[in-house]
Amino acid sequence: MSSDNIRIIDLPKIIDDRGNLSFFEGENQIPFQIKRCYWIYDVPGGETRGGHAYYNNKELIIALSGSFDVVVDNGIEKKTYSLNRSYYGLYIPNGLWRHLENFSTNSLALIVASEEYNESDYIRNYEQYIELKK
Ligand code: TYD
Repeated sequence: MSSDNIRIIDLPKIIDDRGNLSFFEGENQIPFQIKRCYWIYDVPGGETRGGHAYYNNKELIIALSGSFDVVVDNGIEKKTYSLNRSYYGLYIPNGLWRHLENFSTNSLALIVASEEYNESDYIRNYEQYIELKK
């Protein structure tokens, strides 16, 4: 499992008096071929989402609205990425444990994924994850 190259991707931002516009297309901005998008919304205060890792799936996470934190754990250390701009995407390679927390009211998390949904691609047990990282 790779655990390198987690990074914030600065998406194009077309500034306009009528309202700003950002985008991604093909593999020009995102380091994988997009197979799926999903979004998380209406998160009650204090809730967390997504405590797991993937064997193969890579993701780009964008705070389209509001803000939230993405906590990434490589088995040795944890790092928190605070997302609060719709033109920043957090790229997370496969093989990293992550969860989302600290959602602001009306926040909207867009997740762009490299794989179709497949439950067997999930590592949902943290102890198993730590064993795999050894
Ligand atoms: P899950 O990934 O476990 O959410 P989280 O990690 O944020 O808690 O997904 C929750 C449920 O939604 C699970 O039953 C599977 C389903 N689901 C899909 O059917 N397709 C998808 O693309 C995703 C992300 C989830």
